[in-house]
Amino acid sequence: PMIYFVTPTHFRPAQRADLIRLSQTLAQVPNLHWILIEDSDTTSPSIGEILKRTRLQFTHINAKTTSKKKMKYSDPSWKLPRGVEQRNAALHWIRTQFSSLRRGVLYFGDDDNTYDWRLFSEMRTIKKAGIWPVGIVGGLLAEAPTLFDNGSVSHFNALWKPERPFPIDMAAFAVNISLIIDHPGVEFSYSVPRGYQESHFLQGLNLEKFDLEAKADLCTKVYVWHTRTEKSVLEKPLEEKVINFEEADFAPL
Ligand code: UGA
Ligand code: MN
Repeated sequence: PMIYFVTPTHFRPAQRADLIRLSQTLAQVPNLHWILIEDSDTTSPSIGEILKRTRLQFTHINAKTTSKKKMKYSDPSWKLPRGVEQRNAALHWIRTQFSSLRRGVLYFGDDDNTYDWRLFSEMRTIKKAGIWPVGIVGGLLAEAPTLFDNGSVSHFNALWKPERPFPIDMAAFAVNISLIIDHPGVEFSYSVPRGYQESHFLQGLNLEKFDLEAKADLCTKVYVWHTRTEKSVLEKPLEEKVINFEEADFAPL
């Protein structure tokens, strides 16, 4: 099966650095199709070059966050949900392309997380939805579900809003692509409470806790970390033209 790896990405000083690191992780993964959605008016040629250099199958599209929902660089990160319109654009792409897509799984992999190659092997065996621990998230060294003896999920260890139907991070699950086709209206939304994007999505797919297939050695291993790149402090503010024309790329040969 194919892994459809969906990454929203937005401009900031470290964007290219984060994308290079991610691209070099993904380049080594067989049967992976990278769907990269830029939060911008147009796709950037220099980001297209990063994609091409991976020699992966990829889809490069853009979906700009509406200005009312766009956070400023200085805003606290929890202020508004991120990646909503970009992930929805990817879901739309998947649904329109489906007849030509292969059997596979869909994973929402953000551009600044850290992925162990072993995560991808775990995903390929997903029948409906897989779940695994995520490192350094929600104030914990790892958020991980606890399992019953029969391997199904009994509860989640999240400290933040544990009352959520699925108190997990976006990086903690992947779903079979067939669920996306079978539930055509399901998407991310600005009208759900903070922290409920994952629950909203999984509930939309009609999933329940007992549907989740525990991966990563019965959820005892961490193969993905919610690392976050430190916000860059620049002495000279980036000019608009640098942002638009990518003159920030002094890419070495
Ligand atoms: C956490 C989760 O890990 C994300 O999956 C979730 O989208 C986010 O919270 C949320 O609450 O919305 P966090 O590290 O706080 O992640 O979020 P970011 O890494 O800042 O953003 C998630 C993704 O959206 C990244 O790939 C980022 O490049 C992208 N993004 C961010 C945009 O496309 N546009 C933006 O304006 C900001
Ligand atoms: Mn992040």
